[in-house]
Amino acid sequence: MQGDAEIGEFLNEHLTAELTAINQYFLNAKMLQNWGLPGLAKQFRDLSFDEMRDAEELMDRILYYEGHPNLQRLDPISIGETPLEMIQLGLELELEAIARLKRGVELTVARSDHGTRELLAGMLVEEEEHADRFESQLEAIGHIGIENYLARYGFPEST
Ligand SMILES: [Fe+2]
Ligand SMILES: [Fe+2]
Repeated sequence: MQGDAEIGEFLNEHLTAELTAINQYFLNAKMLQNWGLPGLAKQFRDLSFDEMRDAEELMDRILYYEGHPNLQRLDPISIGETPLEMIQLGLELELEAIARLKRGVELTVARSDHGTRELLAGMLVEEEEHADRFESQLEAIGHIGIENYLARYGFPEST
């Protein structure tokens, strides 16, 4: 089915951001694992896989509209040099995704593309959950300090 050109462009723009997020979180996970923080590493690895599912849905949607998913492009990756920086940069990434998806939802409403609107709105809720997780972590770190936080949460639950 032929789709709206501007919506097609938006889907590829957001796909680029998701591909960037996959790489950023995956590299973060590997670095955290290497630093001996498997619990925090798992969180980033799981996030990377969440973003990969988003990328897949976006690609499916672009192909449904007979467009071309662009996998050649990546935004600059903000890696972070410490666990705290990784969490802060993750929050920034999620807040940018939220702002972008709101723009996408508005565009699809304006063009009465309610199928794509539904898809993007679902992603928006998921990115809000990701942002909320990072915000809660930063709040806890503010209360107990990064060393205490990592000692408590840097490792998997022992249940
Ligand atoms: Fe995502
Ligand atoms: Fe996310």
